[in-house]
Parts: sequence; structure tokens; C-alpha cells
Amino acid sequence: MSSRLLTHIKQLVNVRTGDQPLYGKEMAELPCLNDAWLLLEGDEIAGFGRMDSIKRDLPSLPRAQTDCSGRLVLPAWCDSHTHLVYAGSRENEFVDKIRGLSYAEINARGGGILNTVQKIKEISEDELFRISWKRLEELARMGTGAIEIKSGYGLSLEGELKMLRVIRQLKEKSPLQIRSTFLGAHTYPPVYRDHHEGYIREIVEEMLPIIAKEKLADYIDVFCENGFFNPEESETILKAGLQYGLQAKMHVNQLNAIGGIETGIRLNALSMDHLETLTTGEISRLKNSGWKGFCTLLPTAAFFLRMPYPPARQLLESGLAITLASDYNPGSSPSGNMNTVFSLSCIQMRLLPEEALNAATLNGAFAMGLGHTMGSLAVGKTANCLISAPVPSLAYLPYRFGSNLIDKVIIRGQFVA
Ligand code: NIG
Ligand code: FE
Repeated sequence: MSSRLLTHIKQLVNVRTGDQPLYGKEMAELPCLNDAWLLLEGDEIAGFGRMDSIKRDLPSLPRAQTDCSGRLVLPAWCDSHTHLVYAGSRENEFVDKIRGLSYAEINARGGGILNTVQKIKEISEDELFRISWKRLEELARMGTGAIEIKSGYGLSLEGELKMLRVIRQLKEKSPLQIRSTFLGAHTYPPVYRDHHEGYIREIVEEMLPIIAKEKLADYIDVFCENGFFNPEESETILKAGLQYGLQAKMHVNQLNAIGGIETGIRLNALSMDHLETLTTGEISRLKNSGWKGFCTLLPTAAFFLRMPYPPARQLLESGLAITLASDYNPGSSPSGNMNTVFSLSCIQMRLLPEEALNAATLNGAFAMGLGHTMGSLAVGKTANCLISAPVPSLAYLPYRFGSNLIDKVIIRGQFVA
């Protein structure tokens, strides 16, 4: 088993022994160790400590060593909401939006999600795998070590299976930890536009049984929104998923507050994502309901769509758990760069760097059911970590938005090229 020792680390960030998700005020606590070492053995973290006690703690040092003087070492990003498997691109709609069309208007005239659905129909599974693999490699170089990927551009048994099988291949071949979410309820295919029950029946009776039998999904998701799936329809679909052991995630309160939050509470959703239009009343409901899931905030999507940002501070003040994710997709966040997400959350949602770091690592891992092996630097956890450029402090990373300050990425104990 190969070992590697990182030495003279200016600051080892998010070092934890316990592994519990963080709620409210806890999110501001970020345990760090200054002037530290970190030992990786095989694909696991084997130990860490302070340089001044390294001789005592480690009687024999491995030959492979990396001097991290002046640098921070942090856990790799855990991106718990993406649509990374897609085909084509939508820069024409991007320009339409610059000219004044809204996301909802583009969808209403058959663009948006349906545009990408057409591209998924035309592409082969092999080609879809190839382009998705390249995206995943790019994200790994930018520091993502664990990622959730949704289907949802198939909208037919064949199309959804194509996407989910590509995700399965990525899971099998990539060193990144990948979780798969079935999002058949992303929008209605045009033939079912005025006949919603027909599509819901197809999801519940045709897609779910095969997806469950082939173990193609870890979670189920719906886009609960005006013009997409209303709360009742969302509930029917998510409940059907639960019957197959797929816990619920939701796209909710992105454009409008239409009551989906209640559905998420009732079904004990693992995460409720977006929340740009969350009302004060809904925040109180989330707080008082005892719901223990994650509020997954997607600041690059709000930025790209020129939407108001979700009320991150109020969520924290209410004791809720926040997660940050990229929402990587061709329509509302054509970037999966978690460093940008980190910066934007501090700049626009007023998260403290410590809160944002916890949200994008430990809580992100828990929002994918991976909190016990990822998301912090702890003995026995997977050796996924980032070595920063020489920087004065943690806050310098989000402060220097747009700069690439991640010098090296280690995934499962190996440097990513
Ligand atoms: O999370 N809101 C719904 N789904 C995606 C956008 C998908 C698309 O536009 O292709 C989102 O923003
Ligand atoms: Fe999304």
C-alpha cells in the first residue's frame, strides 16, 4: 500500500473526529490545525498531527513526501446537486436571456430543458459517457471529490435509462465518489403537456420498477414549480420512489413559492434544493417542523439567472443545515466549479468562509449519504484533499474570486493530473 506524507502544512482545514452534519450556529465552527502533517495510506487518511510532534507520532516516515509550506490543505469539494450528464449546450438561450427573455419564457416556448432532451435523444450512450467523463475530469482538477448526478433530460424510459446507465459507468470507472438521482420528473414531455397523469403513470409504473431492479438510482428528485410539477404531483412521484427505497430530493422554490416545502417536510426529503423564493413563513415551518434534511443552495444558478439569492443567513439563524452545490447544467449553471460556488456564497449570501467551507464539504457529503467517509479530514475517511497555493488565510480563497488557488488535488490518495 502506498503512503504519502504532507508536511509543514500552514493550516489543515476541517479536521474532525466525529462525523455529524452541522446545523445553524455549528456551521461557523471549523476545526483547523496549524503547522501540521497529514498521512495518507492507500486511499485513506491514516493520521495527522502537528509538525512539532511528528518525530514522536511517526517513528518511520514514508518516502513520498510533499512539502506544503505556506499552503492550506482542505477536504475535496462535495457537490451534492448536479446535472453533469447532458448533451449539447445552450449558449443561444443565454443570449436570448441577455436580450430580455426569462428562464420561464424560454421553457414555455419549448426551449430550456426540452432543448437538451432532444440532444439526449440524438446522442449514443458511448458518446454521452465520453463527454460526461471529460466534464468530470475537469471538475476533479478544480477540486471536486464527490458528486451527485441527476438524470432528467431523457423524459422517456429509454432516455432516462440511457442517462442513468452513463452515470453508472462513471461510478464504476471514476475515482470520484458518485451518487445517482432519478429526475424523470424534470418537466413534462410535450405529448403529456395536457395529460399529466399519463406521464406520472409512466414514471411510477414503467420507469421506477426497472430503475429500482437495475439499482440505477440512489435518490429520486422532482422539479416542483409552476408549469412543471405541482406539490401534489411531486408528492405522488416522490412517494412512489420511497416505496423503492429512494429517498427524496427536491428542486423547490426556485422561481415561485407554491407549497412544495410542505411536501418535502412530509416526506422527510434528504434535501430541498434552490430555495431562491423561500418566504419567511416557510423558513419558520422548516424550523418548527423538526425536519433534519439539508437546504441545498445553488448560488451559481441564482447568479446565472439573475435571481435573488436564497436567504442563507436566515436559514442558519433558524438552526437549519445548509449545503452548497453547483447545479452544473446547460441551462441555469453551465459551470461546476465549486471554487466559484464557495466565493459567491460568501460574497452574495454573506456566508462566512468557515460556514461556506462546511457547507461545501461535510454537509455536502451528508446530503449525498457520504458523510461518514467524505467531507472532512478524519482518520479512516477517504484520502480526498486539496492543496492550495501559498495563501495568507482561508478567507483569501473566496476573496480572490475567479483565481485558481487550488494547486493540487488528491483523490483516493492519488494526485489528479
Ligand atoms: O436546477 N430547475 C430545474 N432544473 C435545472 C435546470 C435545468 C436546465 O435548465 O437544463 C436547475 O436549475
Ligand atoms: Fe438542478
